[in-house]
Amino acid sequence: MGDPWLSAYDAALRVARKAGAVIRDAGEKEIKVCTKSSTVDLVTKTDERVEKIIIGALREQFPDHCFIGEESVAKGEPCNLTDKPTWIIDPVDGTTNFVHGFPFVAVSIAFAVNKELEFGVVYSCLENKMYRGRNGKGAFCDDEKIEVSDVKDIHKSIIISEHGTDRSCEKVEKIFSTMKKILCIPVHGLRGSGTAATNMCLVACGAVEAFFEIGIHCWDIAAGAVIVKEAGGVLLDVNGGPFDLMSRRMVSANNMVIAERIIKEIEIFPADRDDAP
Ligand code: IPD
Repeated sequence: MGDPWLSAYDAALRVARKAGAVIRDAGEKEIKVCTKSSTVDLVTKTDERVEKIIIGALREQFPDHCFIGEESVAKGEPCNLTDKPTWIIDPVDGTTNFVHGFPFVAVSIAFAVNKELEFGVVYSCLENKMYRGRNGKGAFCDDEKIEVSDVKDIHKSIIISEHGTDRSCEKVEKIFSTMKKILCIPVHGLRGSGTAATNMCLVACGAVEAFFEIGIHCWDIAAGAVIVKEAGGVLLDVNGGPFDLMSRRMVSANNMVIAERIIKEIEIFPADRDDAP
C-alpha cells in the first residue's frame, strides 16, 4: 500500500500556512478579546475564524473524518478521540501572546487514526517556522531535520514549564513550588514561550531539554507530541506512566534520564480529562 495519509499531511501543511497568514494579518489590526473559563482564559474572533478556515478546508477534502478543535469544544462539541481518522486542532496556540503582541503564536494541527497520532504540524506563524513530524518519518523545521539535545546531566539543562489559565491559589502554589524545586536542582534555566505547541518544538530541536505542564489540552500538545517523538524525544505522564493525550498532563523531554529527574520534582494536582463525560 502507498502512503495512506500523505494527502492529509499535505493538506495540513497547506492550511496551517494559510491560517498563519490570517493570524499575522489579524495581529496588525485591533484585536477584540473575550474570555472563556476564567478572566485570564482569552479568546478572540481570530481563534474562531481560523478554526473555521482550517476545519472547513479539511472537511471539504476529507468529509468522513472527525474533528476536535479548541473553539468547537468550547462551544459544546464533544472531545472524544475514537478510532476514526481524527484531526486535533488548536487554531491559535498562544492566544494570550497573540493578544499582547508577544511574538510566539502557533497553529497546531495533528491527525490520529485508531487513537495513534500519525502526524503533527506546528506553524510558528510570527517566526515563519514550519515544524512537522510524521510517524516513523522524522521531524523537521522547514527543510531541516531536527533532533533533541543529547544532554543527560540535568544541571546542564533548560526546562520549560507554563502556568496555564487556572489561577486557583492551591494550583498556583504547586506550580511554583515545582518550578522552585527544579530551578534549585539547579538547572541552567527555566523558560516558557506561552504556547505549548512551540514549547514542544523547542524540545524537538534541542533548544531546551524538557517541557512539562498539567492542565494543557489535547489540541495544545497533539501535534507537538509527534514532533518530539520523531525528533528522538520521549513523552510521559507526570507520574512517570505512559503519556495519555487526553489526560491534560504531559512531560516531553530529550531522553528518559532528564524526564525522570524532572518527574521526581513535579507536584501533581488534579485536572479533569479532556474526554471526561
Ligand atoms: C495555551 C498555551 C499555553 C499553555 C496553556 C494553553 P491557548 O493554549 O498553549 O502555553 O500554558 O495551558 O491553554 O489557550 O493559547 O490555545
